[in-house]
Amino acid sequence: MSEPVNVADYFEQAAEKVDPQVWCYFEGGSGDEVSLRANAAAYSRWLLRPRMLVDVSSISLETTLLGTPVSMPLGVAPFAMQRLLDPEGECATARAAAAAGALMCVSTITSSSHAELAAAAGGSPRWLQLYVLRDRQRTLDHIAEARDTGYSALVLTVDMPLLGRRERDLRLGFQIPDDLPLPYIRGKAPAVAETLGEHFQTSPALTWRDLEWVAAESGLPIVLKGILTREDALLAVEHGAAAVYVSNHGGRQLDGVAAGLDALPEVVDAVGGRCEVYVDGGIRRGTDVAKALALGARAAFTGRAVACALAVDGEPGVRRVLGLLRDELELALGLLGCTSPAEVVRSHVEPTVPYDPPA
Ligand SMILES: Cc1cc2nc3c(=O)[nH]c(=O)nc-3n(C[C@H](O)[C@H](O)[C@H](O)COP(=O)(O)O)c2cc1C
Repeated sequence: MSEPVNVADYFEQAAEKVDPQVWCYFEGGSGDEVSLRANAAAYSRWLLRPRMLVDVSSISLETTLLGTPVSMPLGVAPFAMQRLLDPEGECATARAAAAAGALMCVSTITSSSHAELAAAAGGSPRWLQLYVLRDRQRTLDHIAEARDTGYSALVLTVDMPLLGRRERDLRLGFQIPDDLPLPYIRGKAPAVAETLGEHFQTSPALTWRDLEWVAAESGLPIVLKGILTREDALLAVEHGAAAVYVSNHGGRQLDGVAAGLDALPEVVDAVGGRCEVYVDGGIRRGTDVAKALALGARAAFTGRAVACALAVDGEPGVRRVLGLLRDELELALGLLGCTSPAEVVRSHVEPTVPYDPPA
């Protein structure tokens, strides 16, 4: 197979390499996959408006996320069970992210322990994506472990009170292998032929009040992941969220919701600069990240681009895909006439069709 030159090449090679019964879990969305397709399509509905005759001989992509310095405004979204794609799993991703100076969000459904990750990626910036489980004591233990192993923020995912229905998984019979370690969600007893739903004992009873509970228990800044409306963005700010992370969970939860990018402007508007805003879903190009920045995101995150690269070539693959996206973003900024992420503003994009925000 030839060396991938872009994210699409990694997608193609990953789909060829990984067992279809496993790949369905990584590639697929929920229901009719309307929201999954919407994510990728959203970027092509925004055109870039470059400015000429700007000195771009020195471009820096460096920024901070909740005060943490990172090399670029693109991080690794939390995605589950990475050892299904590579024997080193999350540790490979963590080492590659550390080498790239990129922030990594580690899933609660990680197949590597936080101690293993700390050993693999030392002091590199890592945030823990938290699912609050029905068993609150288990969540408290998880938060304590996160604090002790160097996580500097919690990304509380709020769009999964119930698990989306992922029909590719059902059709192909995706099952979590018995020997896959899932230290923060798996039951203590050996599991046999478990479905995803049996495993994900996330609490369906989580409410806004619990946000303060998680913040108090952890003492860490809370990023709310899965926000798609201005109403919830306002509540997030009121409840003290340190950041709002706009996401439709890679089109894997409620099908029929907006793409992350399409929900971004109304969230940015509602937040009005009171906290940082991030976005994910469908990032495949550096120009996608540039569009997200122009629409007000401080950073974007990518899940499947990293998953594909991990499947194709493990740690070097993830290193390479982050490098490719970094190079593409730097080129995009330069050609837009910008020398830093902060210089990318709303006037650098225009919608291909008039943007008509919901009332
Ligand atoms: C295989 C897979 C597993 C995921 N697992 C989690 C998870 O454990 N927690 C979470 O908050 N989001 C999870 N997500 C959603 C991602 O964090 C992110 O929102 C999504 O992948 C972004 O879309 P993209 O894959 O197009 O970049 C997962 C996504 C995928 C594809």
